[in-house]
Amino acid sequence: MINIAIDGPAGAGKSTIAKLLSKKLGIIYLDTGAMYRTVALKAVKSGIDTKDADALGEMVKDINIEIKFDQDGQRIFLDNEDVTDQIRTKEISIASSDVAVVPAVRLKMVELQRRIASQNSVVMDGRDIGTYVLPNADFKFFLTASLEERANRRFSEMREKNPDITFEEVYKDIEYRDKNDSSRQFAPLKKAEDAIEIDTTKMTIDEVVNRITGVIGNELLRQDR
Ligand code: DC
Repeated sequence: MINIAIDGPAGAGKSTIAKLLSKKLGIIYLDTGAMYRTVALKAVKSGIDTKDADALGEMVKDINIEIKFDQDGQRIFLDNEDVTDQIRTKEISIASSDVAVVPAVRLKMVELQRRIASQNSVVMDGRDIGTYVLPNADFKFFLTASLEERANRRFSEMREKNPDITFEEVYKDIEYRDKNDSSRQFAPLKKAEDAIEIDTTKMTIDEVVNRITGVIGNELLRQDR
Protein backbone atom coordinates (compact mmCIF):
# COMPACT_ATOMS: atom_id res chain seq x y z
CA MET A 1 0.00 0.00 0.00
CA ILE A 2 1.17 3.43 -0.87
CA ASN A 3 -0.35 6.84 0.00
CA ILE A 4 0.68 9.93 -1.92
CA ALA A 5 -0.44 13.43 -0.88
CA ILE A 6 -0.56 16.28 -3.36
CA ASP A 7 -1.54 19.66 -1.95
CA GLY A 8 -1.53 23.20 -3.20
CA PRO A 9 -3.74 26.14 -4.15
CA ALA A 10 -6.43 26.11 -6.87
CA GLY A 11 -5.08 25.83 -10.40
CA ALA A 12 -1.60 24.63 -9.47
CA GLY A 13 -2.16 21.48 -11.55
CA LYS A 14 -2.90 19.07 -8.73
CA SER A 15 -5.77 17.17 -10.30
CA THR A 16 -4.18 16.83 -13.75
CA ILE A 17 -0.94 15.60 -12.23
CA ALA A 18 -2.58 13.36 -9.63
CA LYS A 19 -4.73 11.72 -12.30
CA LEU A 20 -1.75 10.97 -14.55
CA LEU A 21 0.31 9.75 -11.63
CA SER A 22 -2.43 7.41 -10.46
CA LYS A 23 -2.66 5.92 -13.98
CA LYS A 24 1.11 5.43 -14.14
CA LEU A 25 1.18 3.74 -10.77
CA GLY A 26 -2.04 1.79 -11.29
CA ILE A 27 -3.64 3.10 -8.10
CA ILE A 28 -6.75 5.21 -7.46
CA TYR A 29 -6.92 8.99 -7.44
CA LEU A 30 -9.08 10.75 -4.86
CA ASP A 31 -10.01 14.36 -5.55
CA THR A 32 -10.94 15.65 -2.09
CA GLY A 33 -11.95 19.08 -3.43
CA ALA A 34 -14.90 17.36 -5.13
CA MET A 35 -16.14 16.30 -1.69
CA TYR A 36 -16.23 19.89 -0.37
CA ARG A 37 -17.85 20.95 -3.63
CA THR A 38 -20.55 18.32 -3.11
CA VAL A 39 -21.24 19.59 0.41
CA ALA A 40 -21.52 23.10 -1.06
CA LEU A 41 -23.91 21.87 -3.74
CA LYS A 42 -26.17 20.30 -1.14
CA ALA A 43 -26.17 23.53 0.90
CA VAL A 44 -27.00 25.66 -2.14
CA LYS A 45 -29.74 23.28 -3.25
CA SER A 46 -31.23 23.21 0.25
CA GLY A 47 -31.11 26.98 0.63
CA ILE A 48 -28.56 26.80 3.47
CA ASP A 49 -26.17 29.75 3.93
CA THR A 50 -22.71 28.41 3.04
CA LYS A 51 -21.21 30.38 5.93
CA ASP A 52 -23.68 29.18 8.57
CA ALA A 53 -21.54 26.74 10.57
CA ASP A 54 -24.40 25.43 12.73
CA ALA A 55 -26.72 24.73 9.81
CA LEU A 56 -23.89 23.10 7.85
CA GLY A 57 -22.94 21.00 10.88
CA GLU A 58 -26.52 19.71 11.04
CA MET A 59 -26.63 19.16 7.28
CA VAL A 60 -23.51 16.98 7.13
CA LYS A 61 -24.63 14.71 9.99
CA ASP A 62 -26.54 12.53 7.56
CA ILE A 63 -25.14 13.63 4.20
CA ASN A 64 -24.78 10.77 1.76
CA ILE A 65 -21.65 11.20 -0.37
CA GLU A 66 -20.34 8.24 -2.33
CA ILE A 67 -17.34 8.02 -4.61
CA LYS A 68 -16.92 5.49 -7.38
CA PHE A 69 -13.62 5.01 -9.10
CA ASP A 70 -13.42 4.16 -12.78
CA GLN A 71 -10.95 4.31 -15.67
CA ASP A 72 -11.36 8.06 -16.12
CA GLY A 73 -11.09 8.96 -12.47
CA GLN A 74 -13.83 9.32 -9.93
CA ARG A 75 -17.57 9.93 -10.07
CA ILE A 76 -19.14 11.54 -7.04
CA PHE A 77 -22.70 10.95 -5.85
CA LEU A 78 -24.87 13.04 -3.57
CA ASP A 79 -27.91 11.17 -2.25
CA ASN A 80 -27.50 8.64 -5.09
CA GLU A 81 -27.37 11.32 -7.82
CA ASP A 82 -24.21 11.65 -9.92
CA VAL A 83 -23.16 15.30 -9.36
CA THR A 84 -19.66 15.04 -10.88
CA ASP A 85 -20.38 17.69 -13.52
CA GLN A 86 -22.71 19.92 -11.50
CA ILE A 87 -20.02 20.78 -8.96
CA ARG A 88 -17.70 22.45 -11.49
CA THR A 89 -19.30 25.90 -11.58
CA LYS A 90 -17.86 29.19 -10.32
CA GLU A 91 -20.65 29.52 -7.77
CA ILE A 92 -19.86 26.11 -6.30
CA SER A 93 -16.09 26.84 -6.31
CA ILE A 94 -16.56 29.80 -4.00
CA ALA A 95 -19.21 28.05 -1.90
CA SER A 96 -16.94 25.01 -1.46
CA SER A 97 -14.17 27.19 -0.07
CA ASP A 98 -16.69 28.65 2.40
CA VAL A 99 -18.14 25.35 3.62
CA ALA A 100 -14.57 24.00 3.96
CA VAL A 101 -13.92 26.49 6.77
CA VAL A 102 -16.38 24.68 9.02
CA PRO A 103 -14.69 22.06 11.27
CA ALA A 104 -17.77 19.79 11.38
CA VAL A 105 -17.76 19.64 7.57
CA ARG A 106 -14.02 18.89 7.45
CA LEU A 107 -14.18 16.18 10.11
CA LYS A 108 -16.90 14.40 8.20
CA MET A 109 -14.97 14.53 4.91
CA VAL A 110 -11.66 13.58 6.53
CA GLU A 111 -13.26 10.47 8.03
CA LEU A 112 -14.18 9.28 4.52
CA GLN A 113 -10.78 10.28 3.08
CA ARG A 114 -8.88 8.36 5.76
CA ARG A 115 -11.08 5.32 5.31
CA ILE A 116 -10.35 5.25 1.56
CA ALA A 117 -6.61 5.68 2.19
CA SER A 118 -6.54 2.86 4.73
CA GLN A 119 -8.14 0.45 2.27
CA ASN A 120 -6.44 1.46 -1.00
CA SER A 121 -3.19 2.69 -2.45
CA VAL A 122 -4.12 6.22 -3.40
CA VAL A 123 -2.97 9.54 -4.80
CA MET A 124 -5.01 12.11 -2.89
CA ASP A 125 -5.11 15.78 -3.77
CA GLY A 126 -6.37 18.67 -1.68
CA ARG A 127 -5.20 21.40 0.68
CA ASP A 128 -4.52 19.61 3.98
CA ILE A 129 -3.68 16.06 2.94
CA GLY A 130 0.00 16.16 3.91
CA THR A 131 -0.54 18.25 7.04
CA TYR A 132 -3.74 16.82 8.48
CA VAL A 133 -5.50 14.00 6.62
CA LEU A 134 -2.50 11.73 5.99
CA PRO A 135 0.41 13.08 8.04
CA ASN A 136 2.20 9.75 7.54
CA ALA A 137 1.75 9.61 3.76
CA ASP A 138 4.64 7.88 1.98
CA PHE A 139 5.15 10.86 -0.32
CA LYS A 140 4.06 14.46 -0.04
CA PHE A 141 4.17 17.08 -2.76
CA PHE A 142 3.13 20.71 -2.65
CA LEU A 143 2.41 22.21 -6.06
CA THR A 144 2.39 25.96 -6.58
CA ALA A 145 2.31 28.39 -9.53
CA SER A 146 1.86 32.14 -9.85
CA LEU A 147 -1.69 33.43 -9.40
CA GLU A 148 -1.69 34.73 -12.98
CA GLU A 149 -0.70 31.34 -14.40
CA ARG A 150 -3.19 29.45 -12.24
CA ALA A 151 -6.00 31.77 -13.29
CA ASN A 152 -4.97 31.30 -16.93
CA ARG A 153 -5.06 27.53 -16.66
CA ARG A 154 -8.42 27.48 -14.87
CA PHE A 155 -9.85 29.99 -17.38
CA SER A 156 -8.99 27.84 -20.41
CA GLU A 157 -10.44 24.81 -18.63
CA MET A 158 -13.71 26.49 -17.61
CA ARG A 159 -14.22 28.36 -20.88
CA GLU A 160 -14.75 25.05 -22.70
CA LYS A 161 -17.92 24.40 -20.73
CA ASN A 162 -18.92 27.99 -20.04
CA PRO A 163 -18.05 30.30 -22.95
CA ASP A 164 -19.40 33.37 -21.09
CA ILE A 165 -16.93 33.22 -18.25
CA THR A 166 -14.30 35.99 -18.14
CA PHE A 167 -10.65 35.84 -17.08
CA GLU A 168 -11.34 38.44 -14.35
CA GLU A 169 -14.06 36.29 -12.79
CA VAL A 170 -11.77 33.27 -12.66
CA TYR A 171 -8.87 35.36 -11.31
CA LYS A 172 -11.07 36.79 -8.52
CA ASP A 173 -12.42 33.34 -7.62
CA ILE A 174 -8.91 31.95 -7.22
CA GLU A 175 -7.68 35.00 -5.34
CA TYR A 176 -10.62 34.73 -2.92
CA ARG A 177 -10.09 31.02 -2.36
CA ASP A 178 -6.32 31.38 -1.86
CA LYS A 179 -6.98 33.77 0.99
CA ASN A 180 -9.94 31.89 2.44
CA ASP A 181 -8.29 28.45 2.25
CA SER A 182 -4.99 29.59 3.81
CA SER A 183 -6.40 31.77 6.56
CA ARG A 184 -8.95 29.40 8.08
CA GLN A 185 -8.24 28.17 11.62
CA PHE A 186 -8.77 24.46 11.13
CA ALA A 187 -6.50 22.53 8.72
CA PRO A 188 -5.64 25.44 6.39
CA LEU A 189 -3.90 25.22 3.04
CA LYS A 190 -0.25 24.87 4.03
CA LYS A 191 2.84 23.05 2.86
CA ALA A 192 3.73 20.16 5.18
CA GLU A 193 7.27 20.52 6.50
CA ASP A 194 8.30 17.28 4.86
CA ALA A 195 6.56 17.96 1.51
CA ILE A 196 8.53 18.55 -1.66
CA GLU A 197 7.52 21.87 -3.18
CA ILE A 198 7.30 22.13 -6.96
CA ASP A 199 6.69 25.49 -8.64
CA THR A 200 4.90 24.47 -11.84
CA THR A 201 4.58 27.98 -13.34
CA LYS A 202 7.05 27.32 -16.13
CA MET A 203 6.80 23.54 -16.25
CA THR A 204 4.85 21.33 -18.63
CA ILE A 205 2.54 18.64 -17.27
CA ASP A 206 5.00 15.95 -18.36
CA GLU A 207 7.87 17.67 -16.59
CA VAL A 208 5.94 17.78 -13.33
CA VAL A 209 4.87 14.14 -13.59
CA ASN A 210 8.45 13.08 -14.39
CA ARG A 211 9.79 15.04 -11.47
CA ILE A 212 7.35 13.33 -9.11
CA THR A 213 7.82 9.81 -10.49
CA GLY A 214 11.57 10.45 -10.32
CA VAL A 215 11.35 11.24 -6.61
CA ILE A 216 9.12 8.22 -5.93
CA GLY A 217 11.25 5.86 -8.04
CA ASN A 218 14.50 6.94 -6.42
CA GLU A 219 13.11 6.55 -2.94
CA LEU A 220 11.67 3.10 -3.65
CA LEU A 221 15.00 2.02 -5.19
CA ARG A 222 16.84 3.37 -2.15
CA GLN A 223 14.57 1.39 0.17
CA ASP A 224 15.20 -1.76 -1.90
CA ARG A 225 18.91 -1.59 -1.40
O1 DC B 1 -9.51 21.44 -5.27
P1 DC B 1 -10.81 22.23 -5.50
O2 DC B 1 -10.60 23.54 -6.18
O3 DC B 1 -11.85 21.40 -6.18
O4 DC B 1 -11.37 22.53 -4.02
C1 DC B 1 -12.53 23.29 -3.78
C2 DC B 1 -12.45 23.91 -2.39
O5 DC B 1 -12.53 22.89 -1.39
C3 DC B 1 -11.17 24.66 -2.07
O6 DC B 1 -11.24 26.03 -2.42
C4 DC B 1 -11.01 24.48 -0.60
C5 DC B 1 -11.71 23.18 -0.28
N1 DC B 1 -10.80 22.06 -0.03
C6 DC B 1 -10.31 21.95 1.25
O7 DC B 1 -10.55 22.81 2.08
N2 DC B 1 -9.54 20.87 1.57
C7 DC B 1 -9.24 19.94 0.67
N3 DC B 1 -8.50 18.89 1.04
C8 DC B 1 -9.70 20.07 -0.66
C9 DC B 1 -10.47 21.16 -0.98
